[in-house]
Amino acid sequence: MKKFEEYLASLQADFHDSRTKEAMFYSLLAGGKRVRPRLLFELLKGYGIAEEAGYPCGAAIEMIHTYSLIHDDLPAMDDDTLRRGRKTCHIAFDEATAILAGDALLTQAFQIVLRCSCSAEAKVKLVELLSVHAGIDGMILGQTYDIEAENAVHQTIEQLEQIHRHKTGKLLILPLLCAAVISNHDEDIELLRLIGEKIGLSFQIQDDIMDVTVAQSQLGKSTSDEKNHKATYVTLLGIEEAQMLCDRYYDEAMMLMNDLHAQTDGLIAFLKELKTRRN
Ligand code: IPE
Ligand code: IPE
Ligand code: MG
Ligand code: MG
Ligand code: MG
Repeated sequence: MKKFEEYLASLQADFHDSRTKEAMFYSLLAGGKRVRPRLLFELLKGYGIAEEAGYPCGAAIEMIHTYSLIHDDLPAMDDDTLRRGRKTCHIAFDEATAILAGDALLTQAFQIVLRCSCSAEAKVKLVELLSVHAGIDGMILGQTYDIEAENAVHQTIEQLEQIHRHKTGKLLILPLLCAAVISNHDEDIELLRLIGEKIGLSFQIQDDIMDVTVAQSQLGKSTSDEKNHKATYVTLLGIEEAQMLCDRYYDEAMMLMNDLHAQTDGLIAFLKELKTRRN
């Protein structure tokens, strides 16, 4: 991933220097696991395409994800001070700059994805996928439900699942669908959607568990679900049952992988790594 990190850093040269640009790259280049780009690259390789062909799209997705984190950390949302091992964007800069940095990452993502060396038709599909999965019925809907559920007295497992499916699931499905589009494997799209949904649920349940079981210093981000009275799988089911459900979704995703028209060794190895993550 070193080459991809260099690619992300190289994007700085394309924009005029400004305080917002500084904040934008402060957050984008702060590390992070790069889960979504890795999913894209591993699946592209599984379809026989070099990962470099996915760099513009991987960067665009990581930019959208980073914007979602900057805004998620704002005082009006989760009000957190630590992210990716450093101060959150609004603490390191200020709230107005953090809002603008998020806006800039989201907007510029649509410019960067167009650098993909695929057909014009495929680019149109990528732009649509990015906007739908990040947008009002995608990640944003999940964040909307998440805020509405704060302090909710009666939260059902179905409501919680809806939050997770959107706020996390949508941006994890996205790279898988983009890989199918870039490599012309549209026949796998519906199956990838199912796989991505399960990975998304498993991933966010694990995030909820780690919020109460792993130290902030190891996570590199604030643990604030309890303080914010968030509805999580842990509050609803307890750690043990939440872990069982997390494992179940993960196993189901793995099973479905067999039917893809791709070589899945790399993707499976990466998902195994993710399952044992501690941040
Ligand atoms: C954090 O995502 C937000 C969730 C959806 C749980 P990641 O766990 O992928 O965060 P980074 O990118 O590694 O910082
Ligand atoms: C937020 O979920 C997911 C998005 C940013 C869309 P969380 O609020 O649980 O993410 P963390 O724990 O702050 O990374
Ligand atoms: Mg949140
Ligand atoms: Mg948060
Ligand atoms: Mg969390």
